[in-house]
Amino acid sequence: MSGPRVEILDSATDVAERAAARIAAACAAPSPVLGLATGRTPLAVYAALRERIAPGGLRLDHATFFNLDEYAGLPPGHPASFASYMRRELFDPASVPEGRWHLPDGNGGPAEADGYEAAIAAAGGIGLQLLGIGRNGHVGFNEPGAAHDSRTRRVRLTEQTRQANAPDFPAGTPVPEHAVTMGIGTILEAREILLLATGAAKAEALAAALEGPVTEAVPASALQRHPRVTVLCDVAAGRNLRRMAA
Ligand code: F6R
Repeated sequence: MSGPRVEILDSATDVAERAAARIAAACAAPSPVLGLATGRTPLAVYAALRERIAPGGLRLDHATFFNLDEYAGLPPGHPASFASYMRRELFDPASVPEGRWHLPDGNGGPAEADGYEAAIAAAGGIGLQLLGIGRNGHVGFNEPGAAHDSRTRRVRLTEQTRQANAPDFPAGTPVPEHAVTMGIGTILEAREILLLATGAAKAEALAAALEGPVTEAVPASALQRHPRVTVLCDVAAGRNLRRMAA
């Protein structure tokens, strides 16, 4: 069957281990360029990668990383920023030097967004892009309605997304209303994509993305048009899928 290859695994732990193995394999190349995601789903992936980092074992310090998105309006170093998340979960423990990891400038304008695209191109493009999926089918912060040829730009977050991410912010600190995200067009240029989905809350969005029509109403449905997408999900997230793992 053409379209995304779907692997339904027993547990979220299995999803994380499989994803970490795939990322580790990609990093065995001489100059790997990876696209990364934040959020709760990849936390276990980054934990699994941290466990693999060892002298003579997995190294990530020669790789170049581009994250999908960053909030607007947060001061540098804010603990809920995606830059802080990535430093904490992966870049610092893996000794990835500054200059090898990149996030969009959440406080930048169109020139900085274009600069992010240019930096990805200058690095040779993204080889492997890790993605999560929002309950509304978003990828990156491309909310429903985003054009499938969209590029890195400032976007407004939906109330649903802001509520979903509220637990990442200290009590009383509102979730920003805007962010800067790679576009769907940017994401689709990655040579290979790994989409992760765990938990029953993602079941509806995953089924719509993989088995529904390709539509701007479901941003992740654009992945149906990419030739090399692997979906790793647990049984809870995969329960609405008609097809089963190949
Ligand atoms: C994160 C991102 C988002 C998340 C999505 C799922 O960089 O771009 O698209 O992947 O919101 O988030 P979790 O994993 O927290 O359910």
